[in-house]
Amino acid sequence: SGYITMDPGFGSTGACFSDITYVDGERGILRYRGYPIEQIAERASFVETCSLIIYGELPDAETLNRFRRALAEHAPLHTSLYHYFSGFPESSPPMAILSAMLNLVSCFHPGVLEVHSEGHGFDRTAALLLSKVRTIAAWSYRMSVGKPFNQPNPHLTYCANFLHMMFSEPFQEYIPSPAVERALALFLILHADHEQNCSTSTVRTVASSRANLFSSVASGVCALWGPLHGGANAAVIEMLEEIMASGRKIDYYINRAKDKSNDYKLMGFGHRVYKNFDPRASILKKRVYEVLAELHKSDPLLDIALELEEKTLKDEYFISRKLYPNVDFYSGILLRAIGIPPEMYTVMFAIGRMPGWIANWRELHDQNLRITRPRQVYTGRQERSFVPLEER
Ligand code: CMC
Repeated sequence: SGYITMDPGFGSTGACFSDITYVDGERGILRYRGYPIEQIAERASFVETCSLIIYGELPDAETLNRFRRALAEHAPLHTSLYHYFSGFPESSPPMAILSAMLNLVSCFHPGVLEVHSEGHGFDRTAALLLSKVRTIAAWSYRMSVGKPFNQPNPHLTYCANFLHMMFSEPFQEYIPSPAVERALALFLILHADHEQNCSTSTVRTVASSRANLFSSVASGVCALWGPLHGGANAAVIEMLEEIMASGRKIDYYINRAKDKSNDYKLMGFGHRVYKNFDPRASILKKRVYEVLAELHKSDPLLDIALELEEKTLKDEYFISRKLYPNVDFYSGILLRAIGIPPEMYTVMFAIGRMPGWIANWRELHDQNLRITRPRQVYTGRQERSFVPLEER
């Protein structure tokens, strides 16, 4: 026990055995429960993907219907929660609202604070969380723009219901076009799980103390917020907008990212595991073109993104470090195309990642894993004697 292996950032430390998601970073392979991401992205709905990731198998029709009904049943928020939204100042970041509200919501449904990783208790908690996160997210946006909340509509699909809660107005129901609904589903599916990333390992760390699902997931939301993780999707759009507004050549930004005297990075580039390409970025890039065409839109930020990708792919700095566009590089452009406001991008990632967090939380409990407790090498002062205040 006196011997400690240093591995800051845990780049080569395995912390668990997992049956959920397979990533081969050298070959750009991602599979959920064995199914290639390309097939899931093309053929599954987000709700089917959630069921697959959480329970391990593609649901049959009856299981899927039961799951859908549970999601519809749990979508409304307890009426006592309404005034908590208005307690946040208007400029509050939706990620702050989301993490706070998750813990708050759990207090209104006492059963969900119990720790069950199997059976009805788990099924109910998981469905409640997956459904309520969507309502909380949409309402935090409505609150931030000073608009009335829209009640969930149990007859809509998961994605259409979210868009309705975001964009319907009192006298004008928002009905998304199939292209918009499919684009949102694709975004959520591509974010549904990604093995032991920063937020998922945070969820597991919190869960390892046997904390309940809601509090474990709320901490995952906080971990996701940072710009090196989920916050990158909003940071990419900010970066592309800055490049466009500056009128400077793209090379200026590429050189700045290569310059080690500052900590400027090209957002949406690089990945701890993918060292060839990120299959999610390839799917998103293709879909961005299709969605823009279907919606008869164009986006000048896409041209900047393409130029950035093309130039970095030929640049020795990026080649030698194996830095490629990651999932966050094109996802913001897709969300922009379907009208999601930038302050919601990372919240959208959180909604998508929910099944992954839930599945990892459950797996940790099923395997009865040991509490997470990394070690350190102490580099501080050796023992010294206390100095009274008047002598300092
Ligand atoms: N721009 C410029 N240089 C970079 C970048 C970048 N985006 N990413 C990594 N590098 C450099 C890094 O400085 C290091 O250089 P050197 O070896 O000379 O010191 C080298 O590439 C290796 O990178 P690293 O920092 O050891 O990589 P990491 O595995 O610790 O970090 C990362 C991975 C994703 C945090 C990092 O690449 C990054 O900060 N990218 C930008 C933020 C981003 O896009 N995050 C989204 C990640 S994907 C999905 C998600 O988790 O949300």
